[in-house]
Formats: sequence, C-alpha cells, structure tokens
Amino acid sequence: MASVWAKSGRSIDLHLDFDPDAADGRRAALELALRSAIRDGRLAPGARLPATRPLADELGIARGTVTAAYGQLVAEGYLSARRGAGTVVAEVSSGGPTPTRAPVRFAPPATPPRVRHDLSPGRPDVSAFPVQAWLAAARAVLPRVEPAAFALSDPRGRPELRTALAEYLGRTRGVIADPDTIVITSGFMQGLGLLAQALRDRGCTRIAMEDPCLPFHREVVRRAGLQVAPLPVDEIGASGAVPADAGAVVLTPAHQGALGVVLGPARRRALVDWAASTGGTVVEDDYDGELSHDRQQIGALQGMAPDRVVYAGTASKTLGPAVRLGWLVLPRRLLDPVVEAKFYADAQTESIGQLVLAELIRRHDYDRHVRAQRLKYRRRRRELLARLTTDVPAVRVHGAAAGVSWCWSSRRAGRARRRS
Ligand SMILES: Cc1ncc(COP(=O)(O)O)c(C=O)c1O
Repeated sequence: MASVWAKSGRSIDLHLDFDPDAADGRRAALELALRSAIRDGRLAPGARLPATRPLADELGIARGTVTAAYGQLVAEGYLSARRGAGTVVAEVSSGGPTPTRAPVRFAPPATPPRVRHDLSPGRPDVSAFPVQAWLAAARAVLPRVEPAAFALSDPRGRPELRTALAEYLGRTRGVIADPDTIVITSGFMQGLGLLAQALRDRGCTRIAMEDPCLPFHREVVRRAGLQVAPLPVDEIGASGAVPADAGAVVLTPAHQGALGVVLGPARRRALVDWAASTGGTVVEDDYDGELSHDRQQIGALQGMAPDRVVYAGTASKTLGPAVRLGWLVLPRRLLDPVVEAKFYADAQTESIGQLVLAELIRRHDYDRHVRAQRLKYRRRRRELLARLTTDVPAVRVHGAAAGVSWCWSSRRAGRARRRS
C-alpha cells in the first residue's frame, strides 16, 4: 500500500493510504482511503477535499476515477458536494457515518468568557503580553542565531537562556545559579513531573506537598508513581514538621499557592534543616516570586541551601501560561537524572521561545515588563480592597500583597476564599 500526500492549491494537505494496484481497482481503493481518513478523524467534518483534477494528478490516476469516488462517498453520506463550495466532509449530525475517533477523557480548560471584571483566581493579565518587546527581541536575535539552534541539541535548553536566567535569578531572587545546572522545561508542571521521576529513580517513594495545593500538581506527582503526603499550611506557611517517610517536599514559600501566605523565617529554617539532616530535597515553586507588590521582596529559599533546594520558576505569571517556559535550578546530584527524564519526555523545550526570552532578559525588557505588571497588580489589589471595605465590610482579606491572587473570607461564613 502506498501512502500519498495529496495537496492542491488552496486546499488541504491530506495523507491517504491509497493503493493504486489494489485488486478492487483504483476507484474502490480511493474510496477506501477517504472513508478511513474520515472515520478515524484525520478528515474532520467541514474539511474541504482537493479538487478532482489536482488530486488525480497527485495520485497519478484518471480524473474520472476521483469524480466517481467522490460521487460514491456523497451517496454514502461521508461527503457533501455543493455547487461553488466544492466537496466537503459531511457534518456527522446530518445522519452520515459516525467517526470512530477515540473518546477524549480530558477536557481542556474552556476559553474564559469575556467579562468586565475577571475575578477568577491566579489568572495573569495576558492582554498585557509584551508583544512589541517580544517582536523586537525576536527580530534582533533570530537573524543572527546559529543554524544549530534549530536542530535538537542540549536537553537542558539553550545556553543563551540558561546564562540569562542565572544572572536574572541571582539579581532579582537571590538564587545561586550556575547556567550548567539549569534545565529549561515546558512550565513548572513539566518540571515537577521530571523531578518526581528523578527522585523516584533515586529511591524516594513519598513527597510532601502543601495542603491545600493545586490538585493537578498532586496528580503529576502521583502519575510519576509517588505517594503524596499532605503538609498542613497555616498563617505562616507550610508546617516545618515534614512526615517522616517523605523524601522531598514541594513548597511555595514566597506566596503560598492557595492561601497566599508567606513562609515565615523559622519555618524556612526548619525546612532547610530537615533537608540537610535527612538528605531530603526541597522543591521551591517560585511561580510568582517576582510579583510581590507591597513589601520588600522575599528572597528565594534556594539561596539558603543550594545543594538541598531545587528552585523552580516559570514565565506563566509574568508573560502568560501558554508560553510554556519554566526553569529548574538543580543541585548537581539531581542534574543527570532530571536531564535524562527531560530527554525522554520531549528531547528539549522548543528553542525559538527560549532564544527570544533570553534576549528579552538580556536587554532588560523582561525587567521592565515585570515591574509594570507588579505596579498594575498592586493598583488593582488596592482598588479591590477599597471596594470590598466599603461595599462588603464583612469581608476580611488574607495573604500577602503579591502575585495575581489574594484571599478573603467572610466573617460570617468564616471560610477562606481565594480570588484574583
Ligand atoms: C502554585 C503554582 N505553581 C506553579 C504555577 C505555574 O505552572 P506552569 O509553569 O506549569 O504554568 C502555577 C500557575 O498557575 C501555580 O499556581
């Protein structure tokens, strides 16, 4: 059976398993190839098929054979033909055949509705993505990049970005970072999965995670084959009493992921001491560490014990979660297992975004953008607080003035709520 890429003019690129020497003849072979492309979903309802002449040319068969095959599939309900609109795959609801595509178990997050005031938690203002600065950085960097940047190379990621981040994280977050021990990931979520695999391969069976934390982060750890032990959180952050059998702990010290509190100095010390005395690992999820607004920024925990703490950062809150760029600053003992896990996950993170972000950091446009975002979120928080005080006096606000989510509770209900 020959696999043929059929393409024509303005219409689609179509992969057909077409056998020109089939015993039933070419027309039946083309019908079979089109039917299976529609059934398994490669040709979706509404997709326009190539015109008969170019498809016949591509396949090296007579145009009449293509016309006859299209006619047969129209009669069967797979295709529909309208004058001037060409031949398109029929809508499933028209009574035509049902595609046999596997059902999707995971529903991606719905596109948020357009609202005047979006108070959903943790969502950065993606309308502020620095399009002009990003374009300027891309224009500056891409024409002079070595061609090797477009080939697969180091699973740790582009050296330009690792170098830029080492300088930036040291300067802004007090992270002790060597570009050699930074691994660029597809966001924190991937980084967490890679770390869980690396820790599991080194004998860890259980990881303590803040309770509450994001449920899908717990699931990432479970899917790597590890158990999750809850680490309670109070008004000074995660408890310093790590369950005895946990080999690692995942924390959000600068701004607790769900309740917004900052990890207090005694707890910071206790958790670092726990790691040093047990050989455990602290994973510091610094997802919005740069966006602390009202107070002196709290430096990263990693600076206290770079050999025991993995620092994890992301561009999801500063630029936008769909950018999918994150970074791990690793103790040397975890570098090889994480790099190996990264290689088998996806070889490396895509390089073009890395090059552009590196340039954005290098020319300090990233600093300018983060600063502008921080000021904007501070203003918004103050406005929200002022309105809450006057309009809903029963509400009490909790958590640090940081990031893109803040907590409040109703005195009457006494339950903490988290809001942006
Ligand atoms: C607690 C926490 N950690 C990390 C992240 C960032 O995750 P990612 O880099 O995978 O987008 C978020 C974003 O929602 C978060 O809330």
